[in-house]
Amino acid sequence: MSEQEQAISEWPDSKKIHESLDALVAQPMWELNRDYLKEVLKWFDTHCSKSKAMIEKAKKIIPGGVQHNLAFNYPWPLDITKAEGAYLYDVDGNKYIDFLQAGGPTLLGSNYKPVQEKVIEIIRECGPITGLFHEYEYKLAEIINQYMPAVEKFRALGSGTESSMAAIRIARTATDKRKIIKGGGSYHGWNDQVAYGMHIPGSGAAEADGIPRGCYKNTQEFVPHDIEALEKMLKKNDKKGGTAAVLLEPIGAESGTVPVLKDWNKQVAELCEQYGTLLIFDEVVTGFRLGMGGAQGYFGIEPDLTIFGKIVTGGYPMAGGVGGKEEYMEYVAAGVEAGKKRAYVGGTLSANPMSCCAGYWAIKEIARTKAYLKAGRAGDRITKGLQEIIEKYQLPYVAFNHASICHLETSGLMNIDIMDPIQSKQITARKDMLHEMGAAYTTKGIITLAGSRIYTSMADNDEVIDKALAGFDEVMSHVEPPKKK
Ligand SMILES: Cc1ncc(COP(=O)(O)O)c(C=O)c1O
Repeated sequence: MSEQEQAISEWPDSKKIHESLDALVAQPMWELNRDYLKEVLKWFDTHCSKSKAMIEKAKKIIPGGVQHNLAFNYPWPLDITKAEGAYLYDVDGNKYIDFLQAGGPTLLGSNYKPVQEKVIEIIRECGPITGLFHEYEYKLAEIINQYMPAVEKFRALGSGTESSMAAIRIARTATDKRKIIKGGGSYHGWNDQVAYGMHIPGSGAAEADGIPRGCYKNTQEFVPHDIEALEKMLKKNDKKGGTAAVLLEPIGAESGTVPVLKDWNKQVAELCEQYGTLLIFDEVVTGFRLGMGGAQGYFGIEPDLTIFGKIVTGGYPMAGGVGGKEEYMEYVAAGVEAGKKRAYVGGTLSANPMSCCAGYWAIKEIARTKAYLKAGRAGDRITKGLQEIIEKYQLPYVAFNHASICHLETSGLMNIDIMDPIQSKQITARKDMLHEMGAAYTTKGIITLAGSRIYTSMADNDEVIDKALAGFDEVMSHVEPPKKK
């Protein structure tokens, strides 16, 4: 099955990782030496003054000065002017290795020319949008189905957030059940119903400001790894109208930051089958990073519905879609038909020729170049190198990866035990610490996602990884044990 090769070389030992993460959050933080942090901040003063000036201006008109949640904000966001391959360039002329990868979509590397050329061609021919059918709509759906046969039908949408909204609506329409259960800490976008139990397992409505209680009344979160507790929830729900769907980030909450045991997805799939509940895989990140078959290909599971985003349009706009079994997907057929049960979805710009063209060619190129294997290998290399650095300086930090999705946990923020009175008070301090680490990596020419996640791409060759490891080593050499109080 050569087209379905898997990018994960070896499933990480999730049990051991959790033990290490538990040990990390049970102790005070190991932070950067304060004098070194001063040097880091000075570097920003001397190297990033144009970014600073731009952001000061932007703050007057943009909340916080920057539009994107994943933008690096400490000590101030960077103004990026160019992206190419493995690198980003800022307005001050600094060059960085790009491990943010816009949050995941640029598996082929930034601004990948063969896709860019196809996009320019289609814009020349019909502009970005016509509102009518274009052959690329068909081609995108067909190529997804080729690699993910469980996606019998695909409906393009605008984002991962929209796609989780749609998947939930389809599941409720199909099952006539209300409740949905998501993984504790998992992120499926910012819509009202899933902005619950985000980031930190057990955090419930902690990030649900502005959302009336009623919107997430039917949302529940399961405790990671506790299959018996999940079954109890399903059983209890069954007496009160039932569970429409279980949503899974298949490698664990926050793209594996809370990694699952290898048989978890299968166990959940069996429970879903037993309770007449639809299984929804969120493949917004894993889709094409774990292999052409995504997480479903890796685990050999056929979810009822799959949520797409990011890579599905190769990093071009309107990155979203929901797909799945025909019997469910028929509920989102376009057009208005009186008397027919349907799950209403829409979007003026959804499935525009430009996005579908970009998605089709990106997926085709990922398959042709085996980008998931190359990026996965880079992910393995950087993780191994980080583990060696951690060992060298005897730090309590934890590095692990699922192919090109890598984690460097220095504060353990998303693994804190929310029920622990000491740990739960440390959320802000642990977040601040991550910002400091991220800023220090930046001074070494490395941009990470929020200071703790590293996405690798096909462009990350050995030279890039070696350079990055030298930078991480330098930063880690300035970490100190906690001071005794
Ligand atoms: C696993 C997962 N699902 C859904 C989303 C939401 O996608 P979008 O930002 O396109 O709304 C994200 C975004 O980071 C994600 O990581």
